[in-house]
Amino acid sequence: MKLAVLASGYGSNLQAIIDATKRGVIDGRVVLVISDQRDAYALKRAEKHQIEARYLNPKNYASREDYDSAVIVLLKERGIDLVVLAGYMRLLSPVFIDAFPGRIMNIHPSLLPSFPGLGGVGQALKYGVKVSGCTVHFVDENLDTGPIILQEAVPVYDDDTEESLHQRIHSVEHRLYPKAIQLFVQGKISIEGRKCIIHER
Ligand code: GRF
Repeated sequence: MKLAVLASGYGSNLQAIIDATKRGVIDGRVVLVISDQRDAYALKRAEKHQIEARYLNPKNYASREDYDSAVIVLLKERGIDLVVLAGYMRLLSPVFIDAFPGRIMNIHPSLLPSFPGLGGVGQALKYGVKVSGCTVHFVDENLDTGPIILQEAVPVYDDDTEESLHQRIHSVEHRLYPKAIQLFVQGKISIEGRKCIIHER
């Protein structure tokens, strides 16, 4: 299985995914990393592992659809089976979703459908929930609404800052995302309506 990871920032989830492929926790390879940010550390991580790293500048494209079409060309050329969003800060256009139906995953740092969109960790903290967590889901045309693959809860403590809570969530993400990707690779996920069925044996 050929994986592509799209990332805008630090790329700690990308790193966890690369490590999982090296350890054989994921039976697949990350063959392409794409970023919309020139300085994304995720691109450096890819280069360190001899993975093709591409920066596409959104300013060079007239519309979101044009940008996504350029990304799609790259993904198709490389024969990508699964597109993994890891801290990718752009909303995908329908053109993108239609090009990879049921083959785009995202991770979000809250228990969806609570606290979607930007700043999920801060939103949870501000609301005062005692439990938050992270969600791996398939991507559809709306923000953080696609069928949920895996979720895991994380406690919220009274003295948590956004940073401390995000750190706790991150460490769960680094385990949960590779697990969800491997379930996909093994063909163990089917989608019925907006529900994912996991076929574990
Ligand atoms: C993660 O918390 C993920 O849930 C969210 O963006 C963050 C990316 O972190 N979508 P990193 O770049 O993988 O370190």
